[in-house]
Amino acid sequence: MVLLPRPTPVQTLHDPLLERAGVELLIKRLDRVHPLICGNKWYKLKYNLPAAREQGYETVLSFGGAWSNHIHALAAAGRAYGFETVGVIRGEAPRSLTPTLRFARDQGMRLHFLSRADYRRKHNAEIVERLRTEFGDFYWLPEGGSNALAVRGCAEIVADVDQAFDVIACACGSGGTLAGLVSGLAGRRRALGVAVLKGATFLYDAVRALTAADYDNWHIDLDHHYGGYAKTTPDLLAFMHEFEARHAMPLDQVYTGKLMSALYDLIARGAFARGSTLLALHSGGLQGRAGLA
Ligand SMILES: Cc1ncc(COP(=O)(O)O)c(C=O)c1O
Repeated sequence: MVLLPRPTPVQTLHDPLLERAGVELLIKRLDRVHPLICGNKWYKLKYNLPAAREQGYETVLSFGGAWSNHIHALAAAGRAYGFETVGVIRGEAPRSLTPTLRFARDQGMRLHFLSRADYRRKHNAEIVERLRTEFGDFYWLPEGGSNALAVRGCAEIVADVDQAFDVIACACGSGGTLAGLVSGLAGRRRALGVAVLKGATFLYDAVRALTAADYDNWHIDLDHHYGGYAKTTPDLLAFMHEFEARHAMPLDQVYTGKLMSALYDLIARGAFARGSTLLALHSGGLQGRAGLA
């Protein structure tokens, strides 16, 4: 079983801010890698699904919230590649499903809701046993899909970029994508992660734990979370609105909107040398825009 990526374009942004700063900003449109298995999710699943098959699993089980891009992508991937999927969802079953969960269910994913307290203890042997009793044997994918095989897949994003760049940037939730970029760079050039959670210093340890070698050509911006995970501010929404209109590129409010807004802010503050080229990942997540309504 082999997952081959569709070639994805790189879009050059034209903007007076960039001209003033003498910085080139390129966007790798990973949101176009697959119609349903979008962005970094595709790369995270690239080696996990073949591993599940080789190990003889018919079911893949993973975790996420009611708007999870990962759950959405996994459900579509299960249908496309012939796996049963189970989504263990944080929180009590709602009276009506979010569009994300409706989509997942319609793709054939079985949804299992765990109270927030149980969800926090999801690695606990008793809860794992309960899941095995209900769903049989399964391939375990962690929340956000970030494990060693996901990092191996995300490392290939670097090789899938033909253009020269000095810094590659991505939004950071669990740190798996950034760990992949750091691995793919193998000590050359720089990687920048923009944390979308508040106070996410844990991400440094998470990225180090997922990265085999001890590289130091990367860092995480902790200042552009806009109030915390999935939180927005009027400033962020106004930025997204203007960006989308100017560049004809949709963003989501949880990840890519914060990434682009952070980069614009950093560029305006002179954080990047004149003449440098930044490459930012459009990591998908557009299905979550329904959450804005
Ligand atoms: C659209 C999107 N971009 C970026 C990320 C961040 O990736 P990671 O969790 O690997 O840090 C996620 C979450 O997984 C995501 O859904």
